[in-house]
Amino acid sequence: PTSEPETPPDTLVTDKFAFAFDIDGVLIRGGRPIPEAIEAMQVLNGKNDYGIKIPYIFVTNGGGKTEQERCIQLSKQLDIEVSPGQFICGHTPMREMAEKFKTVLVVGGEGEKCRHVAEGYGFTDVVTPGDIIKDNPDTTPFRKLTEEEHGNSRERNFAETKIDAIFVFADSRDWAGDQQIILDLLMSKGGYLGTRSENFDEGPPLFFSHNDVVWSASHDLTRLGMGALRLSIEAMFKAVTGKDLETTAFGKPQIGTFQFATRLLQQWRKDTHGIDAPPETVYFVGDTPESDIRGTNQFNEESENTWYSILVKTGVYENGTTPKYEPKATVDTVLDAVTHGIHREN
Ligand code: G3P
Ligand code: MG
Repeated sequence: PTSEPETPPDTLVTDKFAFAFDIDGVLIRGGRPIPEAIEAMQVLNGKNDYGIKIPYIFVTNGGGKTEQERCIQLSKQLDIEVSPGQFICGHTPMREMAEKFKTVLVVGGEGEKCRHVAEGYGFTDVVTPGDIIKDNPDTTPFRKLTEEEHGNSRERNFAETKIDAIFVFADSRDWAGDQQIILDLLMSKGGYLGTRSENFDEGPPLFFSHNDVVWSASHDLTRLGMGALRLSIEAMFKAVTGKDLETTAFGKPQIGTFQFATRLLQQWRKDTHGIDAPPETVYFVGDTPESDIRGTNQFNEESENTWYSILVKTGVYENGTTPKYEPKATVDTVLDAVTHGIHREN
């Protein structure tokens, strides 16, 4: 039958296990749902042989919008209701840095969106590459602000502004200009644009919301991601200064992201399902061995419950190759991953 499944009111929610999903390459590709994803969500919501509901969260390295906006979008794409209480994106943990740094440069994403995300996290003084180009258009010889960008960018004298940290929130829309500005700051005397440090060791710290070198978008082949920008900046810093640059990445496979996910899942199960104990098993479904499988396996070793990695073939991982980090199971699609977990439990 093709009609909507009716979830009976007495549907039981399992407290034994839960699912966590990567998004790009598992549920969505290039803004469109992967066809099996919609049914996979219905299965979790009770359309299964056991009539049980299974709690789930989303853990993506993507970003560029507020969690709220992203959940509205995901709800439409997957035909379910997704709440920020069950959602983490690459930049979500950056929220915890808002009190540590005063003036920050936020890079990436569409227009002013990431500035607004950062301000929503509590960062009190957020500047963008656009503000810097507006103050000194010679900063980027081949990048001129559009009229709209000029209007949105904020007036500021950067000779007097100390930038305390750089955060790449989402994919850069202008690698050349953004890299120039990031390098200028990394080589500056203490975060003042227009200055050069003698030993190149006093620039602000540089943070990336994740480290995916490639990701799965609408093209058949993988596309370069933020991890590629990170590699590029580190290589350029070495080439121009002769020094190694240390940067930090959030997101998967960082253990901190999985700890964050554990707390989120615990809160979500408690608030929406009234379950107060941790699940025995969390099934993590991902497409990128280096982020999803690596992080899940590593976290499994230190976690009190089992984190069980499932690799799908709809994204970064190429069928027929040996994944760099070995999953507990490899299946075709997210629907197969959900079925695999449910059968393993019953
Ligand atoms: O830019 C997003 C991408 O690198 C990964 O997103 O959902 O696969 O973790 P996701
Ligand atoms: Mg993915």
